[in-house]
Amino acid sequence: MEELEFVGKTSEDCVVADQVTPLKSRDSFTSGLGVIAATLGSAVGLGNIWKFPSLTGLNGGAAFIIVYILAAFMAGVPVMIAELMLGRRSRSDALTTFRVLEPKRAQWGLIGAAGVLSAFLILAFYTEVAGWVIAYVFKAASGSLLSTDPKVTSAAFEKLIADPVQSVFWQCIVLVFVGAIIIAGVSKGIEKTTKRLMPVLFAILVMIGVRSLMLPGAAAGLNFLFRPDFSKVTGAVLLTAMGLAFFKLSVGMGTMITYGSYFTKEENIPLTALRVMLADLTVSILAGIAIFPAVFTYGFKPEAGPSLLFITIPAVFSQIPFGSAFVMLFFVLAAIAATGAMLSIMEVPVAYLHHRFSMSRLKATTMTVILLALIGSTAALSNSVLAGVKPFGMTFFDLYDFLTSNLLMPVGGFFICLYAGWVWGPQKVKEALSNDGELKNGGVITLFLYLLKYVAPISIGIILLRGLKII
Ligand code: PHE
Repeated sequence: MEELEFVGKTSEDCVVADQVTPLKSRDSFTSGLGVIAATLGSAVGLGNIWKFPSLTGLNGGAAFIIVYILAAFMAGVPVMIAELMLGRRSRSDALTTFRVLEPKRAQWGLIGAAGVLSAFLILAFYTEVAGWVIAYVFKAASGSLLSTDPKVTSAAFEKLIADPVQSVFWQCIVLVFVGAIIIAGVSKGIEKTTKRLMPVLFAILVMIGVRSLMLPGAAAGLNFLFRPDFSKVTGAVLLTAMGLAFFKLSVGMGTMITYGSYFTKEENIPLTALRVMLADLTVSILAGIAIFPAVFTYGFKPEAGPSLLFITIPAVFSQIPFGSAFVMLFFVLAAIAATGAMLSIMEVPVAYLHHRFSMSRLKATTMTVILLALIGSTAALSNSVLAGVKPFGMTFFDLYDFLTSNLLMPVGGFFICLYAGWVWGPQKVKEALSNDGELKNGGVITLFLYLLKYVAPISIGIILLRGLKII
């Protein structure tokens, strides 16, 4: 299939032709390294540092990690491959992709529309956590976080999140920062930034991990991370693990469709997806290795939940020599991780507006950032002014998190599998994933098709219904 097939044709099938920008004028990733940096940059994020360790701590340690890995292989990676493949074929944003590939069946476009909605909801709470992270970098630098008493670090965190002005302020700083990189473009903004940041991220992570492993509680921490206790794995935990796999791998909402549209023709998509999944898992485990030995050494509880990052970490690292530097390094790490992820999420609506309405990136990004500042403030204020407003029994912050990870992304993933496996169909999948016969990866494609058509949708369906207590 030709990439520019739709441009300039007049048949009914090509109704979207006038909306598809020709490939030549489209900004794309420029090298294999750039593709990996940007895609891994999207996967690695606060999920590895803020969600993965705390969910592991809450749900029984190693048993949760095993369930997570299964969910990632059975559902996360297949959806990622499918998204990258569809995006690269259509050369379009998350919404237009379905209009291009399926001009006569408009209902599939709903997947893309839900994706754009998810992007807004995720960024609404994600930029808030990223805002706290940036605030903590400054606090750590000034030494004001240095306390070995979790009551003190907890009070400091409460004070930050309960302050409406600070919450909104830090969130806006994050939005403007991410927006500025997005405006610079796909290759000059996203690719360049993630290429620079990813090596720094690994270096910092290894440094903190090594330091943590030298602590006396290292054995207890590792034991917790690697010795499974399956008694805690319930239906809800399965859904949490699957939601985490989708969130971690940035799938089910069009991010990977959008990034796939910037992939070169030569890129080996299944291999890229596998590499990204494994590297991302390594980062999550390294984050666990950085955190849990320290937590056990100083007698903290591993099951602290989300507060692990902002309350336990400062208290724990304050106990070791040069603690302040380590706390700061830790939050710099989190800020770097968050950046690549936020870039990929914001790119979803920006690419859509840019592409569909021929808006400049500047205008598309400005509109997105303003809208996000509005929606995001409901999350930012959910620990202060809006603390009492609880639709469905959750604050806006928790609601956006729950809705996206546990509902929209798995549902999106489910329909992407159905579409790619059953509607678009095996023949086109084979052509797309073998790069039109260039790659001799028939075995991989057969396995992928089996996962895509049966394993992924069935397991997503069952886990969703069980997790939501419908069956
Ligand atoms: N994968 C990112 C993380 O782990 C979050 C993310 C979700 C990014 C959805 C893009 C799309 O933090």
